[in-house]
Parts: sequence; structure tokens; C-alpha cells
Amino acid sequence: SKVTVVGAGNVGASCAEYIAIKNFASEVVLIDIKEGFAEGKAMDLMQTASLNGFDTRITGVTNDYSKTAGSKVAVITSGVPRKPGMTREDLIGINAGIVKDVTTKILEHSPEAIIIVVSNPMDTMTYLSHKASGLPKNRIIGMGGALDSARFKYRLAEALECPASDIDGMVIGAHSDTGMVPLMSKATRNGVPVVNFIDEEKQSYVIEETKIGGATLTKLLGTSAWYAPGAAVSVLVHSILADQKKMVPCSLMLDGEYGLSDICFGVPAIIGKNGVEKIVEVELTEDEKAKFNEAADAVRKTNDVLYE
Ligand code: NAI
Repeated sequence: SKVTVVGAGNVGASCAEYIAIKNFASEVVLIDIKEGFAEGKAMDLMQTASLNGFDTRITGVTNDYSKTAGSKVAVITSGVPRKPGMTREDLIGINAGIVKDVTTKILEHSPEAIIIVVSNPMDTMTYLSHKASGLPKNRIIGMGGALDSARFKYRLAEALECPASDIDGMVIGAHSDTGMVPLMSKATRNGVPVVNFIDEEKQSYVIEETKIGGATLTKLLGTSAWYAPGAAVSVLVHSILADQKKMVPCSLMLDGEYGLSDICFGVPAIIGKNGVEKIVEVELTEDEKAKFNEAADAVRKTNDVLYE
């Protein structure tokens, strides 16, 4: 099966690389507006095929959407990333036009595609992609929670001095510095609540570092991160193409779930061949519920900017 990745920049190329290395797709098409750029990234990646032992064919094209035809999944990473000191919301002006245009072009050539939105501010870009396409709710998935949860697990593993693979946990809410809601109450180490291992001070530290995880990397790198974002996207693509039905927090159009409607917001869902198979409603503590609702209000304000 074929996957299109729009934007051959840091996140797009990393995502193509992880998809290829895991060897579950027949073809990945990278597409970018920068002349020759996607072709170059695709060629460089293809020259790792014999080294890394994968059979996925990676091709690159400049602007030619006819080459993306028949894709099962299309990932939108096109747009500008943040620079140190910026919030994700600062990117809306440039990225909104790009995401809207790209959504339309993908669907012209792959009318059945499931779309994964990565460009920031992601919750709002996912909402825009819905509005621009009118696709059913199951076919547009915003990637944020998968990454934020991986960062949460990284910080928990650090605090518990254990491997991240021992940790299970989720971040829901908005994909923003202030709006993420790491579910400390539900995180476990091999089934044992993590709150049994770390005191409240350490818990607050983990929550804070998780929320500013992207900003910390942007400061260190001068631009935003790409390895973990690319890997997080590849997990979603894999769950769709192999119909794995993994439960992953994603930004999804809500219709009454968690008491919210007409907003794309981070909630756990089962991801399979139809995209979103089911939204999972979990019980939240009063504090988590308050933070979740506050974050939803902030996302609505950013969504309103689309129509100003
Ligand atoms: P980048 O600058 O490395 O790559 C973006 C690419 O998009 C560039 O190659 C550019 O030429 C291309 N592009 C711009 N307009 C286009 C168009 N109309 N059609 C096709 N390609 C176009 O940026 P990077 O680091 O890859 O980040 C991409 C986006 O993903 C940013 O908006 C960033 O904020 C977001 N991001 C989201 C994450 C998430 O968890 N949702 C995580 C990391 C980044």
C-alpha cells in the first residue's frame, strides 16, 4: 500500500524513513514545493535500503500530485516549524493556507485517503482540514498525543530510573505548551501506578517537562524536533495499514465525546484500517477534567482565528 508524505522537511523525511525501515508499506511518495528537494531526500533514503534492509520504495516529487494517486494514507507535514521562543499558535498565519490547499490536492488524487495532520498549530490545522474537505470524522487524524505521550514516558522513565518500555501512559488535551494534559493518575510501570514510585514534586516536574517538551528541543536545536515526531507518525500509519487497532491519543473531531463538539482535540482512540475506529472515553480526575476543558477553550480561540 501507498503512503504520501507532504513536506519533505525534517519531520516528513524522518517519517518516511521510519515507515521504510519498518517495512510495512510498499511505497512512500514524498512531495514538496522546493524544486528537487523531495527527490533528493527520497534518493538519499533509498540509498539506505540495502544498508537497512527494507523493500519500501521511496520516491520524491516536486508539486506533482498525480504521482500521489491512490494513496491509502496521506501525512501533512508541510509548513513552517517554530523557532526558539515561538508558540505553535504563532504559525497559524502561514500554515493555514498551506494545509487547506494540500488537503484539497491530496483528495483530488486519492479520494479514499485517510489524512494525518502534523503541521502546527496541529489541533487547529486538523479542524481546518475537516472544514476544507468535509470528510467523515474517521478519516482525519491529528498527530500530537502519540508524540506527547512518548515524551511523557521518557520523562517518567527518567524519574523512575527505569526503561521507557516499562512505562505506560497517555497525554490528552491540546497539542500546545499549556494545553497538554498528561494523565499521571493513570500512568503505570508494568501495571503498577507510577505515583507509587515518585513523590508529588517529581510528578509535577514530569508533567511540566512533558508539556514544554517541544519547546525544550526547539531551544536546543534552533528548530523543532523530528525523530520522535516522525516515529510517532509512523506508528499511526502502521496501525492503519496493518489494521492493528492500537489505542493512541489523537486530535479528532468530537461529536459529544467528553462533552465537546465541533472541535478537534486530543483523546484516546482505536486506530485501524478505517482510520478512527472508535473514540475511547476514560474517566478523568476533577483536576484533569478542569485542565482538559480549559485547554479546549484555548483551542476554540485559536480555531476562531481561522475565520477572522
Ligand atoms: P521543515 O521546514 O523542515 O519542513 C517543512 C517542509 O514543508 C519544507 O521542506 C517546505 O518546503 C515544505 N512545504 C512548505 N509549503 C509546502 C506546500 N504547500 N506543499 C508541500 N510542501 C510544502 O519543518 P518540519 O520541522 O518538518 O515541521 C513541519 C511542520 O510540522 C511544522 O508546522 C511543525 O510545527 C510541525 N510539527 C508538528 C509536530 C506534531 O506533533 N504535530 C511535531 C513536529 C513538528
